[in-house]
Amino acid sequence: MEIRLEHLAGPDAGIVLLGLNRPSARNALGRGMVGEFRQTVADLRADRDLRVLVLHSLVPGTFCAGADLKERADMSTSQAALFVQGLRAAFTELEDLPMPVIAALEGAAFGGGLELALAADLRVAGADARMGLVETSLAILPGAGGTQRLPRLIGPSRAKELIFTARRIGAEAAGRLGLVDRVVPAGEALAAALALAREIIPNGPLALRLAKQAVNRGLDLDRDSGMALEEACYAQVLPTQDRLEGLAAFRDKRPPKYRGE
Ligand code: COA
Repeated sequence: MEIRLEHLAGPDAGIVLLGLNRPSARNALGRGMVGEFRQTVADLRADRDLRVLVLHSLVPGTFCAGADLKERADMSTSQAALFVQGLRAAFTELEDLPMPVIAALEGAAFGGGLELALAADLRVAGADARMGLVETSLAILPGAGGTQRLPRLIGPSRAKELIFTARRIGAEAAGRLGLVDRVVPAGEALAAALALAREIIPNGPLALRLAKQAVNRGLDLDRDSGMALEEACYAQVLPTQDRLEGLAAFRDKRPPKYRGE
């Protein structure tokens, strides 16, 4: 298995860790791994108990080395096109997961490896992480969403500079650009991602899903359409038991207990 899932229990119930585990190729994304990844994401989509997903690597020193360049060398042009289409779809499926997704980056995240992290909602990096959209150095371009997600995240000219130069940058520089949300000491990215997840899981699960939807889908809309989307999302939390529980907990001065209903 090149993808490993771990469902946390006890106070961390609701947090699932998705671990990339292909040490021999530094988690390079080959056909097998991408197939497994897409199946896993499809399964997670249907998991009503999943509150926060954390992506990380089980391979020391590497988050993900991007597309499998050895496999690519044996592909025909049309096979390569099909593969990239599948990878692009895989990351969009990840981005479209209804619950918050946090990527914990340690070590190298290049090409498709960084594009994977860009499809998460939040990114935490260990100080030794290195990342870049290096595709133009291979005479290709980012093809798994990088040309679309990076400029939306850090702005078009900063994204173009990184893509045109194929520059590999460290965690601190990535933090300054807003490419990662926080930088922590090397080796502590997973712990920091878990700390973030623990801040999220007490909150209303339906509210979290709808807030994610409102932000993600609203980003590509004009203001008034975005407000209409927000209203439509809000309308879905109004009739929930959890909303009444939130009000009751406030009244009773106790922590709320949300059930996602
Ligand atoms: N595709 C296929 N195999 C890859 C790979 C990739 N993207 N990245 C690394 N590997 C393989 C190496 O070929 C090597 O295999 P070998 O043992 O059969 O020679 C093995 O993984 C270990 O790689 P190595 O470079 O020795 O490890 P490292 O820890 O010194 O460096 C990286 C790791 C990720 C920094 C480095 O491998 C690298 O830069 N990879 C290419 C990343 C890239 O350009 N990705 C963009 C794709 S568009």
